[in-house]
Order: sequence, then structure tokens, then C-alpha cells
Amino acid sequence: MSLSLSEQASRRRTFAIISHPDAGKTTLTENLLLAGGAIRAAGEVAARGERRRTTSDWMKIERDRGISVSASVMTFEYQGNVYNLLDTPGHEDFSEDTYRTLTAADCAIMVLDAAKGIEPQTLKLFEVCRMRDIPIVTFINKMDREALDPLELLDQIQDQLQLDTAPLYWPAASGQRFGGMVDLRTGAFLHYSKRTAEEGVDPGMSPRVALDDVRAEVDPSALEELEEGSEMAREMLPKIDKQAFLEGHMTPVVFGTALRHFGVGELLATLEEFAPPPRAQSVHIKGDPATLDRDRKAVSGFVFKIQANMDPNHRDRVAFLRICSGEFKRGMRLKTVAGKQVNVHNPLMFLAQDREIAETAYAGDVIGVPNHGQLRVGDSLSESGEVKFAGIPNFAPEILRRARPKDPMKAKHLRKALESLAEEGVTQLFKPSIGSDMIVGAVGALQIEVMAERMVSEYNLDVVFEPAPYNVARWINGDEDEVAAFVEKNKSASGTDLDDAPVYLAKNAWDVGYAQEKNPDLRFTATKERMI
Ligand code: G4P
Repeated sequence: MSLSLSEQASRRRTFAIISHPDAGKTTLTENLLLAGGAIRAAGEVAARGERRRTTSDWMKIERDRGISVSASVMTFEYQGNVYNLLDTPGHEDFSEDTYRTLTAADCAIMVLDAAKGIEPQTLKLFEVCRMRDIPIVTFINKMDREALDPLELLDQIQDQLQLDTAPLYWPAASGQRFGGMVDLRTGAFLHYSKRTAEEGVDPGMSPRVALDDVRAEVDPSALEELEEGSEMAREMLPKIDKQAFLEGHMTPVVFGTALRHFGVGELLATLEEFAPPPRAQSVHIKGDPATLDRDRKAVSGFVFKIQANMDPNHRDRVAFLRICSGEFKRGMRLKTVAGKQVNVHNPLMFLAQDREIAETAYAGDVIGVPNHGQLRVGDSLSESGEVKFAGIPNFAPEILRRARPKDPMKAKHLRKALESLAEEGVTQLFKPSIGSDMIVGAVGALQIEVMAERMVSEYNLDVVFEPAPYNVARWINGDEDEVAAFVEKNKSASGTDLDDAPVYLAKNAWDVGYAQEKNPDLRFTATKERMI
């Protein structure tokens, strides 16, 4: 099969799953891979050696660490489309990692626990999607357990997320009485069987039957609820409008139970019908604003994630590059805007289904680029070195800590390690103008824990994290001379970040307000878009 560049790019669907911990993201991921045939494919790929080995070693490291600190990518083919599933880290805290991963996705699946509805983390992640205008498909999971009323769930989405809901299916009760769901558009019934995959249930599409043929097998009260609910849904709830979905105003809703393989094939079919191909990106080419289409010939992309120390024996790093245009070929040379050249001899592909995909990649795909620290999060890479994507912002940390090695002889070693983790984006690192303190910043407490754990396991460093003399960090923007004058005047409350950008290190938010009032020409910002 030989497809044109444009055909290859348009059949890519790059998406992420967002959910509150325990809603079933992992179970759903596995079942999507099963339904998409990727897990079977992974078994086949195992025999092919090297490429597969790299992937599984990395997964083992993640498992050994016991915490998934990275965003991995899983690729599978289904009905002619290529799906790239970006795994967002399951931290309880809002993390920059998650945000960055979502910058590389064109669409998201929001998984809700049917008994719990919208939970705090769902809300936070949803807000990130909204910032990026990412369209969302909703999967209401765990219908095999007692669930909230479907209308109540849809109301929560409507009220708390201001998102119109268009259910594509309507469930017949839940828990013990769960009987299946009706396809609201065709009227076909999908009968729920309690059997598992081991007992022969196909995790793909459930067979569609006429409700009358299975009436006797469904709980009568569940049937009643189904008939009442689905009639109401058809009459009162909006029909799916693809444009409204693509603009992020409306979400199609699918019900199911990932654990029992029900509704997963239908979710995949919903992605097939609605998920958009790789979006056009706003870029600068040779400094001028431009729109970059997915079928532009020259290869370009941006790094949204760095994973260091994938192999503890080699201090290597992998940069995750989201391709945005062109046909990438193994061995290609790409350049950053600053002119750094990267030869991509051994791009990593993740659970790719066949060799052809490992050798080439198109818009929407993600490849892992091994490097020794040349690449940073937010870097743009292109054949000409002239394409610059909008930067991926850093967020002002909510927690600041002073890092100190237990063994004072190891200060230099610690600085190197902190710089490395900051480059990876695990935490931020600030250097005050006075003294030699190392101030570490994190958006959430778990980031500090992850860092402390990695300090021990990867760098063999015992580190103490103490309260810092500052509680708020803000980037200082404005005329260079004015910024320098401010820094000079406030030496004890200023410093620089990893990129040497000036930062105001304040005791509290009141100080920031005061500094802003006294320096109206400067801007003290809570986000920084890294300029390359
Ligand atoms: P997460 O990645 O979002 O954190 O959730 P995960 O898939 O790990 O699922 C959390 C728990 O919910 C797991 O149970 C999982 O088996 C269960 N689960 C997921 N989907 C369904 C579903 O459709 N129905 C039911 N009844 N349960 C579901 P656990 O007891 O915490 O873990 P395990 O011991 O089963 O692995």
C-alpha cells in the first residue's frame, strides 16, 4: 500500500486520555489497545528484536520506579487509521508534564467513573484541554457498578465544564441490572454480557441486535429505565454537531465498562468518526507568522517531553518529538531554530505495528529522539531550522524549596542533577542573585517527591529540601534595561531560572502586587513561554 504524504497525515489520530485517578484510565488504555489489535501486534513485534526491546526496557524502568513519571506513546492501527495514544502521567497534582503532553494531542478522551461523575482532577485536566481548544470525547466507565443517573452525569458535564453533551448511546440501568445500551442514532441495541475476554468476549464492537430479540434477558426495570431515558434523550438532548465538537463546545458521550470490555469498541468507533486529523499549527517561519499544514512537504515538529535516564547505565535522554508536517525518515538531519543539528539515526517508535512505520513518521506521530542533552522541551525541529512553534509555557511553581545535599562535598553534583531534572521538566530550578542556594520549584507536591526519589535512585544523592526564604516566583518581563534595574534594586529577592531568564522571588503574593504597582512598565508573570 503506497499512500501519499497527505493521505498518511490525514489518517493519523493523536489523542490523550484525561481522568481522575481510579476512574479506569489504565484499564481503558489496555482495552483500547486490545480492541485496536495493538496488544496482539505487540506480541508479534516482540520477535522482531531491537526496537521492541528498547520499548519494553523502558517500560520495565517505569514499572520498577513504581510511578509513571513520563508520558509514553502507544501506536496502533484500526480500520485504516493510525492512532497515537499519548499517556498522560497519572499524578494527583496538576503537572507541567500533563500540560505538555496535551499540547501534542489533537483530541482527548475524558473518562468518568459513573458513580462519581466529575472529580477534581477531571476538572483541572479539562481546563487544560480548554486552554488548548482540544475537542473531547466522553467515556462514562464502570456501568457494571451502581452508577449515578445518566442525566445527572450529563448535567454535571454541562454545569461544571460548560460543555454541551450529546449522548450517542443510552444505558439500560447500571450495576447488577446493567443490560446494555441503545445506539440513539440507529436504535440498535448492544446487549451487555457479563462474560470476560477470557471467556471469549471480543473487546471490539458488541454485537448489535433488535431489543425485542433479547428483551427476556434484560431486567424488566432496566428496560423500563432504558425506554423512558432514551426517549427523553432523543427528544430533549442536542444531537451531535461535529463542528461544535471540533471547536470544543460539545462532547459526544459513550457509556461502558472498560473492565468488562463493553463500550470500548464503540468508543473507538466514535474516535474514528469524530477525532480530527493532525491540526494546522501556528508557527513562525523565518520570523514571520504562518500556518503550518500537516501535508507541508518539509519535516517539522516540536519536543514536548524529555525523558532522562531511560537506561540508568547510560546517561541518555529521549526527546519526544511530535511531528507536525512532512515525511520523517530514519537517519534524517533536523535543526533547531538556534541552529543545533540533530541526526536522528535511531528514532524510537512505540508499539508501532509494522516496520514501515518505524522507518517513517508523519504529522501526528511521535518519535523518540535519543540525544545527550542537546534537545530541550519546547524546541522546534525542522529540516531548514526556520520553523518555530509557539513555545510550551513554564508555569510559576506553587512550592519553592531550598535543596541541600546531606554531604556538603556534593553540592556541585547536586546542582548538575537538579539542572538535569529541570531540563527534563520534572521541576524548575532557580538561582538567587545573591549566594549559592539552589531553589527548586514545583507546581505540585508530588513533583518534589518524584524528584527526591530520583535523586536517590538515579544520582545516588541524599538531599534535604528545606523551606525557602521565598514563596512566590514570577518571571520579570519588559525592557531589558528596566528589568536589569529592577533586579539590581531587588538583589535579595531576584534570581534567574534555568534559561537565565530573570525571576522575582517574592515572600508572598502581596509583594508581587506591590512590585507591580511600583513598576507599571514591567510585567510579573506566572507563565513563561520559552523563547528558543
Ligand atoms: P486509573 O488508571 O484511572 O487510576 O484506573 P485503573 O484503570 O487502574 O482502575 C482503577 C480501578 O477500577 C481498578 O480496580 C480497576 O480494575 C477498576 N475498574 C476499571 N474499569 C472498571 C469497570 O469498568 N468496572 C469496574 N467494576 N471496575 C473497573 P482496583 O481494584 O483498584 O485494581 P485491580 O486490583 O483491579 O487492578
